[in-house]
Amino acid sequence: MNSQDYITLDNRYGAHNYHPIPVVISKARGCKVWDPEGREYYDFLSAYSAVNQGHLHPHIVAAAKAQLELVTLTSRAFHNDKMGLFLKKLCDYTGYEKALPMNTGVEAVETALKAARRWGAEIKGIENGKQNIICAAGNFHGRTLTAVSMSSDPESYVNYGPYVPGFVRVPFGDAEAARAAIDKNTVAILVEPIQGEAGVVVPPDGYLSALRKICTENGILLIFDEIQTGFCRTGRRFAWQYEGARPDIMCLGKALGGGIMPISAIVADHEIMDVFTPGTHGSTFGGNPLADAVGVAAIEVLEQEHLEENAYRLGEHFRKAVRAVSSPKIRLVRGKGLLNAVVFEENFDAYPACLALKENGILAKQTHGNIIRFAPPLVITEDELEDALARITGVLASV
Ligand SMILES: Cc1ncc(COP(=O)(O)O)c(C=O)c1O
Repeated sequence: MNSQDYITLDNRYGAHNYHPIPVVISKARGCKVWDPEGREYYDFLSAYSAVNQGHLHPHIVAAAKAQLELVTLTSRAFHNDKMGLFLKKLCDYTGYEKALPMNTGVEAVETALKAARRWGAEIKGIENGKQNIICAAGNFHGRTLTAVSMSSDPESYVNYGPYVPGFVRVPFGDAEAARAAIDKNTVAILVEPIQGEAGVVVPPDGYLSALRKICTENGILLIFDEIQTGFCRTGRRFAWQYEGARPDIMCLGKALGGGIMPISAIVADHEIMDVFTPGTHGSTFGGNPLADAVGVAAIEVLEQEHLEENAYRLGEHFRKAVRAVSSPKIRLVRGKGLLNAVVFEENFDAYPACLALKENGILAKQTHGNIIRFAPPLVITEDELEDALARITGVLASV
């Protein structure tokens, strides 16, 4: 079978809820992938930042293989000998007292929202059913009904009503708007430190620390969704560290699974996490021993290879090189670390540019029509980035 055969199968038997770039990936290693015909590409999406450690990192693969010989799934009806080690590693790495493991990112968000509502009822004494949570316009927190109930993007929410109530949406980047939206039933503010899916929207300096101050002053929780920005992607372990704006709850996912399996979690301190008691929340697969082994190895790679430093340094270089491209269609280049985007003028269709990038050995995907995100695995070397940049700038200059 060739690439076209695989695409035909996908289209014939799959729901059409994605519009992929027409490339089939059958092998991957580090920051490169190959199609069935043997063509080589740089991966500049990293599975939406889930492959920060690079494809098939040998340390993570070895941990997975070793665990496959022992035990993979126990459910939480019993203890296993890996979960505690994983939770400790995650707490040590993030600087929180407790962690609650789930699988996909949206489940981590759901867990954070449930924690905040319960905390509001049980610690703050808000009448159950009255809790509200402030979120930001342009957010992306996943695809469940709760997550799309927060969304301001019609593609995400249209015709999925009725929506989950209890959310108040304010403009992203405007801390005073968030402050003004707080009422006596507000339990939390939830934002992404940088809005990834919205097109790598970086808020003004001081926004995250202002939110931290507002939440503290008003006795409400600050929740950061670091599912896309976390684990070194932006040049820090977590994007909030740029402003010392430590949230009360952090949602984590994607790169926590080291590109091998879906692993997500929230981290928080005792006072918040203790609102969960036996039977009040859970997941069949959350905390499974295979995920625990992979999660520990995924964090070890981030630590041992100093990937936040690589992301910071190469990110500065990437933006400088791409900003030097002269094109009447490009409006701006923005990002932090190795989470970057090229924003074209309004109504520009970036899909053909993504096809041109593919022809030049670069896989990237447009978001919102006129924006292309560039987010390679953080293990990319300087030489690989130079090679990729020559191709990227060549294509961008020609659009
Ligand atoms: C910030 C953010 N939150 C949540 C999610 C949802 O994660 P998942 O697709 O694993 O449910 C994503 C996915 O892109 C994301 O970028």
